Amino acid sequence: MESENTKKLQIAIFASHTGTNMQAIIDACRRGDLNGDVCAVISNNSNSQALEKARTSGVRAYHLSNKTHPEEDELDEAIYKVLTESGTNIVVLAGYMKKIGPKVLKHYKGRILNIHPSLLPKYGGKGMYGSNVHRAVIDAGEKITGVTIHLVEEEYDTGKIIRQCEIEVLESDTIDTLSKRVLEKENSFYVETLKLISENEIKLQ
Ligand code: GAR
Repeated sequence: MESENTKKLQIAIFASHTGTNMQAIIDACRRGDLNGDVCAVISNNSNSQALEKARTSGVRAYHLSNKTHPEEDELDEAIYKVLTESGTNIVVLAGYMKKIGPKVLKHYKGRILNIHPSLLPKYGGKGMYGSNVHRAVIDAGEKITGVTIHLVEEEYDTGKIIRQCEIEVLESDTIDTLSKRVLEKENSFYVETLKLISENEIKLQ
């Protein structure tokens, strides 16, 4: 039920590859664990599992990229149009490997979240995604890594940190075992964080 302290999230998810975080959020909305709807999925990758999974789940899914819109401002405009027409009130990046255009950034300022598989500001920035992050963590001999959810700005992996959790790096960890453990945690941590936002326990702005 909607009250002063809860707000229904109309979530647009941007995903470039596998889409496990996206699927976890869709499933949580469907189960009623999260007071929200996934109203659009956008991918820059026409062959992504994320697009396929979204369509299988009956969610409107769009391939929008420099292939569909070669001019940057046209792509920004097309993405903006999908967001506004679908009634989006929060944008969730889940493994989205492209920058967000200025129009979308301005309109949704303070309402665009990203998840990153490390304890930012450590192991963030350009080129730091997926297994590159976990390789760097293991190579540096870190004993603790984690997950960060932050607001999105123009640059990669900057912006106000909303929530973090720590994950132990085991002596026996390989890039694969660490990636798997971190990703499993991300899936539940993203849903929990969105729930706290919908319940007004976390205020974005
Ligand atoms: C996740 O590990 C996410 O943190 C990472 O991409 C993966 C996407 O997985 N994002 C970044 O590294 C952003 N810099 P998914 O497609 O299965 O949700």
